[in-house]
Amino acid sequence: MEKERKAILEIEHLHLDYRIGGRFCHAVHDVSLTIHSGEILALVGESGCGKTQTALACMGLQPESAHIGKGKIYFEGRELLSQSKQQWNTLRGKGISMIFQEPMTALNPLVKVGKQIEENGRNHGLGKIQARESTLSMMEKVGLPDVGRLYSSYPHQLSGGMRQRIIIAMALINDPPLLIADEPTTALDVTIQKQIMSLMKTLNKELGTAIMLISHDLGVVSHLCDYVHIMYAGTIVENGPVHMILNKPLHPYTKGLLGSIPSYGKKDQRLDSIAGIVPSLENRPQVGCQFYNRCTQRMASCKNISPHATMRDGHMVACHLYPEEA
Ligand SMILES: Nc1ncnc2c1ncn2[C@@H]1O[C@H](COP(=O)(O)OP(=O)(O)OP(=O)(O)O)[C@@H](O)[C@H]1O
Ligand SMILES: [Mg+2]
Repeated sequence: MEKERKAILEIEHLHLDYRIGGRFCHAVHDVSLTIHSGEILALVGESGCGKTQTALACMGLQPESAHIGKGKIYFEGRELLSQSKQQWNTLRGKGISMIFQEPMTALNPLVKVGKQIEENGRNHGLGKIQARESTLSMMEKVGLPDVGRLYSSYPHQLSGGMRQRIIIAMALINDPPLLIADEPTTALDVTIQKQIMSLMKTLNKELGTAIMLISHDLGVVSHLCDYVHIMYAGTIVENGPVHMILNKPLHPYTKGLLGSIPSYGKKDQRLDSIAGIVPSLENRPQVGCQFYNRCTQRMASCKNISPHATMRDGHMVACHLYPEEA
């Protein structure tokens, strides 16, 4: 019997703009995605594509200068963007936890790591003894050794990998249904990166936590996630089950991302990187395909007509190479 797929997070047509030089420029444009309970969904794209802005909006933590014009975000069916400050405070850490992109700022250097995890539990109603017990048990679950002793360590006494495990424990102490992990391994070396990624998978299986995993590296997330959304210059250009995206990428941007990964690039050939860079907000085209300037398969229509999302080979792609079926 197929497992029931309950939607945990639903983003519908989210638009997030910044006012630059007197006009609104989009950082996130018409983004929709759904994460179901227990799933891992990866949001992948190069630097500046809007991954973090999308995640911050789900936590109500976007910068004050950000303007959310259109769109809705639902968590377990409840609309978030119209929430009060107090409702956001209750949601953060208890409903949705986020591991932020800047690992150095996540831990307070002056407070023992165990206390920092414990405080997160206390903030959401755990009693003193219960918070302590949950902290030690969560420290074990994230694979930390000798937790009784480590509890009293300060962040600088731990390795980068151990600190990231503490941050994950802190995010999960209240057993949130959803964890947003924004590039959780960027500051770590490759071996530790692999360990942390496999830890995320284990926790997802053991605790049932749904995860939105943000990365610029499709290769890193491909082993872990169930679904992938490929983001380019604020828009989702392709999305679907991970095996479909890896085996049959359709969008030239997705193909470009895959071509620059050693295990997916063509054998015995130089890895292809995508020429050019993601345009800054004020330099993004207001009509047409955002990827136009960098696309090796562009056609005349791509410049002036924005592509619509369409279903092809079992997944969604927004590109003029795949016109909407009549
Ligand atoms: N406060 C701000 N004011 C104006 N523009 C901003 C602000 N914060 C972010 N941006 C712009 O929004 C765009 C998306 O940024 P975002 O941080 O979401 O990218 P990202 O996909 O997370 O990239 P990275 O992989 O580097 O973390 C970028 O062009 C960025 O410069
Ligand atoms: Mg980011």
